[in-house]
Order: sequence, then structure tokens, then C-alpha cells
Amino acid sequence: MTSHNHHATTSSSPDEPGAGATAQPPLEFWDELYKAKPAVWSGRVNANLASVAGTLTPGRALDLGCGEGGDAIWLAQQGWRVTGIDISTVAIERARAAAVDAGVDAALLDFATGDLETWSPDDELDLITASFFQSPVHLPRAEILRKAALMLAPGGHLLTVAHAGVPSWVQDSEHPAHLFVQPDREIAELALPAGEWETVIAESRTRDVASPDGAPGTLEDSVVLLRRMG
Ligand SMILES: C[S@@+](CC[C@H](N)C(=O)[O-])C[C@H]1O[C@@H](n2cnc3c(N)ncnc32)[C@H](O)[C@@H]1O
Repeated sequence: MTSHNHHATTSSSPDEPGAGATAQPPLEFWDELYKAKPAVWSGRVNANLASVAGTLTPGRALDLGCGEGGDAIWLAQQGWRVTGIDISTVAIERARAAAVDAGVDAALLDFATGDLETWSPDDELDLITASFFQSPVHLPRAEILRKAALMLAPGGHLLTVAHAGVPSWVQDSEHPAHLFVQPDREIAELALPAGEWETVIAESRTRDVASPDGAPGTLEDSVVLLRRMG
């Protein structure tokens, strides 16, 4: 997450497009969402990404759906050479500005706009991250993650962190259940070649956060770390 009280706030917001907006083109949907606020996410790395990726040896990383760049910037600060990709030009402009503000070595970090559905990776990678890479509009998440995973070098990791359910303070989500990610289902949907992948982490983790009105609440995250054997 880069932020992820954030998702909670947006999911309970009356002006967030819900199921009725599912036909909206993804670029239009995401650019509109970003333009509506000066910052949508917190700008900070998400706690699960930091705790898991923090144990890995830095190499070449790719952050899918990087949003405003908080995770990619943090990875670069740990010594990873990182590319962040997002469909939203607004988000990528913000990510670039945030990297400059953070003083990140430009040789370690770059951001690109692109639709990951049609994008082809052209580099061998040591880490692919996708934090809250979920969308109420069209997003072939599993296909994109699989395509990216197959670009991992032997020993490389795929790390996904995702909303596993609605925030504790939300009674009725307009988000259909299939938009939430469960660790085991995620791994099954990835359908990676048998015998080539080790499941290092497949967990649902509960996080204590403040709800939008300040009361204590919890969020449920799916955390999956797969390692390409070899
Ligand atoms: C819920 S946000 C998460 C952003 C960021 N990873 C974070 O944790 O704050 C999902 C992101 O996926 C991006 N996205 C959605 N569909 C995409 C696509 N087809 N190609 C690239 N990025 C996409 C959106 O623009 C958005 O920034």
C-alpha cells in the first residue's frame, strides 16, 4: 500500500465510482481518481512490503501499478534498482516529483506510464512487487502478474500485498467480493509452471489502523511471496 488507510477512505466515499463504473476505461478511471485529490495515498511504503522486501538482497525490481511511488522510492532507498509502472500519467508525475523530493539517486529509480495489460517486460528481474494492484474497473490482475513473474531470474521473488476484505468499519462495500484477494486463491490463479516456484509466504495479515473518523479499526491484507527456483 502506499497508504492504505487510503483505500478505506476511498471505498467509503460516496463519490467513488462503484460497480456501475466498471465499464469505464482504466486510464480515464485512474486519472480521474488521482486528479480528484492532490495526494491519494500516504506516500509511505506499506508495512508488509517493507517487512518482507526488507529481508531480500537488493537487485533489479519492478513495481506494478506503482501509483504515487511510495513503495518504489522506498525500495530504491534500500539499494534496489527500481522501475515503477502505472497506467495513470497523473500518478507517475507525482511519483517522479516525490522521488526528487526524497533525494533518491536517479540512477536507481525510474517511473514509466503504461498499461500493464499490453506491456511486455524486457529485462530480467530479481523482484516484482504489486501492492494493492486491484481495481473496480477492468484489470486482468492474474495475467499481468503471471507475465511479470515469468521475467524473474532464478532465485527472484514476486511479492503481492492486497486488500483481502473490507475495512472493519465498512458495513457494506460496493466492491464485489471477487475484487478482494485471498492468498491461496491468488497463487492458484497465477497458475505458474508447476515445480518451478516456492511459496515463501501466503498469509492474510490484520493491520491496526485508525478509521476515517479516528476510531481504532483493522484492515486485512493478503501477503504472498513466491520465489522462482533455479
Ligand atoms: C489501488 S492503486 C495502488 C497504488 C500503489 N501500488 C499503492 O500501493 O499505493 C492501483 C494502481 O494500479 C494502477 N493500474 C490499474 N490498472 C493498471 C494497468 N492496466 N496498468 C498499469 N497500472 C494500472 C492504477 O493507476 C493505480 O495506481
